[in-house]
Amino acid sequence: MAEPTPRPRVLVTQRVPQPALDLLHTFAEVDLNPDPDRIWSKEEVIARLPGHDALYCLLTNPIDATVMDAAPGLKIIANMAVGFNNIDVAAATSRGIPVTNTPGVLTDTTADFAWALLLAAGRRVAEADRFTRAGKFHGWGPMMLMGGDIAGKTLGVVGFGRIGRAVAERAQGFHMRVLYFDSYRADAETERQLNATSVDLDTLLAESDFVTLHVNYTPETHHLIDAPQLAKMKPTAYLINTARGAVIHESALVAALRDGQIAGAGLDVYEDEPVIDPGLLALENAVLAPHIASASVETRTAMALTAAENVQAVFAGRRPPNIVNPEVWPDR
Ligand code: GLV
Repeated sequence: MAEPTPRPRVLVTQRVPQPALDLLHTFAEVDLNPDPDRIWSKEEVIARLPGHDALYCLLTNPIDATVMDAAPGLKIIANMAVGFNNIDVAAATSRGIPVTNTPGVLTDTTADFAWALLLAAGRRVAEADRFTRAGKFHGWGPMMLMGGDIAGKTLGVVGFGRIGRAVAERAQGFHMRVLYFDSYRADAETERQLNATSVDLDTLLAESDFVTLHVNYTPETHHLIDAPQLAKMKPTAYLINTARGAVIHESALVAALRDGQIAGAGLDVYEDEPVIDPGLLALENAVLAPHIASASVETRTAMALTAAENVQAVFAGRRPPNIVNPEVWPDR
């Protein structure tokens, strides 16, 4: 009698929502970092990866050639995130390894959170909370904690992909004018529906009251917002970042916020996570969140399941639905 085919072995680098683990268990042996709060170092991933057929990882795991070479024969690297700048995709491609991400399922949740930061920065919500808890509220004040209006203002969306467009869609409810900057121009119908106008980055920075970043992090978008760009913004404007930290030059932003070159910022991501520039931590006009834009129960579950479905597809002989390097999977 033929030996049964061994089940694939999947390494999961941190505990993720249970439905995804349940799905993986239906077709694979799962080795899991059981601690939801501890991020394995690259060395720990390398030490554990040998003998595994699939790597299910997170944006906190740098996955380069040295990791890949710890498990020759690796069949997939499934990232539980839409961003995949933590993975050396070229190294994976040259080894024939499919890399996958989780687009689509986090669009609305991330757009909602960009808005949460925009509203919080503009209306000084986090600062007001600290103020109130500190016992400083001694009665209504005519000039107490004044912020900037949102309705009727101009929103500048940098990166007009799925998330950027969802942020623009929400701006309609605030009767905002929307400007966007992207290397691809949206079609006329989308521009009409979202009441959005394509402009160059300088125009967007100069004319927007709120600038929100939704670009992928690539060598081209590294420090896209640096001191010269911050200097082009209005002193009453706010900068929102739910993309990747290094799209902004963080210390230039600290200086701009400190010197009143711009009014405030709402940040979910940082250049060197989890380290945050101490200058930012000291500023009242920065609202700081710990990279949680997609962190709703529903969305994190959907992201975790999407990553598991990508792994499942590979072991069922199918091209994973969210492959980012399709050239490794020509029609078979
Ligand atoms: C979160 O930052 C993601 O890329 O999914």
